[in-house]
Amino acid sequence: MSTVVRLAQSFDEWRAAARELIARGVPPADVAWQSQPGDGDLFSSTPDATDTSAPLLRLPRSLVELLESAACFNVHDRWAFLYQVLWRWQLDQHDVLSPADADGARLHAMAKAVRREEHDMHAYVRFRERSEAEGAPRFVAWFEPTHDVLPQVARHFARRMGSASWMIATPAASMLWDGTTLHAGPALLSGAADIDDAGEALWLTYYRSIFNPARVNAGLLRSHIPSRFWKNLPEGAIVPAMLSGAANGERRTGQTASVGQRSGATMIPVSAERAQPARELPTTLDQCRRCALWQHATQAVPGAGPPQARIMLVGEQPGDQEDLAGLPFVGPAGALLDQALREAGMARDSIYLTNAVKHFKWEPRGKRRLHKTPAQREILACHGWLEQELTSVKPQVIVALGSTALKSILQDGAASMTPLIGTPIRHDGRWVVAVYHPSYVLRAPDAASRRQAYEVIVAGLRQALVLGQDSHHSVEAGTSCPSSRRA
Ligand code: URA
Repeated sequence: MSTVVRLAQSFDEWRAAARELIARGVPPADVAWQSQPGDGDLFSSTPDATDTSAPLLRLPRSLVELLESAACFNVHDRWAFLYQVLWRWQLDQHDVLSPADADGARLHAMAKAVRREEHDMHAYVRFRERSEAEGAPRFVAWFEPTHDVLPQVARHFARRMGSASWMIATPAASMLWDGTTLHAGPALLSGAADIDDAGEALWLTYYRSIFNPARVNAGLLRSHIPSRFWKNLPEGAIVPAMLSGAANGERRTGQTASVGQRSGATMIPVSAERAQPARELPTTLDQCRRCALWQHATQAVPGAGPPQARIMLVGEQPGDQEDLAGLPFVGPAGALLDQALREAGMARDSIYLTNAVKHFKWEPRGKRRLHKTPAQREILACHGWLEQELTSVKPQVIVALGSTALKSILQDGAASMTPLIGTPIRHDGRWVVAVYHPSYVLRAPDAASRRQAYEVIVAGLRQALVLGQDSHHSVEAGTSCPSSRRA
């Protein structure tokens, strides 16, 4: 059989051609794949028309996704290789997908490299805001991806950047978002220098403001941002100075009002107001040195809510996002708590939310700050702050979210959740309801235990609502309420 030539400039084109070739029983050795019209082998035959009416080759979705990812890997023989995989698969050689098979190993390695490139592009694309010009995109970014990941990365940014128009240019192609639709285009620019960098000052101000000398690990920073990205990152020029500032003992983040005051939409994912709520003066809590946790936290996180709320929810300590935002329960645990509050019919803005420990305790794990449970001495050191909140808010019901909160509320380092789940007690003239911490639900190993733990939280919140409706209300058991009595 003579060589059959097929043109594939996209995964869809390749798929249509591959389907037709397989239907005709053309083996991989007899196909020459071209990536550009006119490419390739002078001795090959003229391309046949691709027959898109060929019977549909049914493939599992996971295989299509794997092939589609691998198709973005920038290598000269990608279409031939994918056809080889497909050919073997339809011959029932399903071990072609096994990492133990040479083709399978290559396929997985290609897909993995593509996912990595997508991740890097999400992380290192920097949009610059351009001066207003009729019909021109508002933000422009330049990036040099190793693999062909521009379309999917553009879809990612389209989801995230709302109606602001932008363009991402690469050496091979460009993608434009006009606020409602994505448009693929040719290569338009020859480098980052072509981009009007009016917005660069904004980005650098923001970058300086979120740079936290207490969190920075220079070695990690260098190893996690490969040097090929630095030249196109505007912050590449200012990082060395900031690192030396960190080495010289600067600790606080420089989150400044100036970021929040800048007008107009930006590419900043967290607004400055959220990143650092305005505080006229540092509170005494900000200056707390009663334990060592302040040293590695961005800021102390006080409670939030109506000053005279009937119900106070006490968590353990701020997490990564709370530490940055300066507000309790704004991260994943907060999202779960919100859901439970809604289900229990408790309005978040009617309750006071706080934590037993006000500084984030964490340990580094790769690029992430991993939560670390506070020690009893840290719970004790922080107890005075909780006591102050209890004295000023005077809640009738306290909901302890997890055992750190319970230990602090009861001032008992040995307090255990289990006997109190579902059984509120009186303590110091208030009801104490114990429920699991929302993170406990998030960490539960399977759906059934997640559901069970979540139901405990919702039931506890409902119980707290009932108890809070009437402070004199003696719950069903109807007895008087001495200190630490069970309902
Ligand atoms: N976990 C807590 O205990 N408190 C928070 O504020 C966030 C997560």
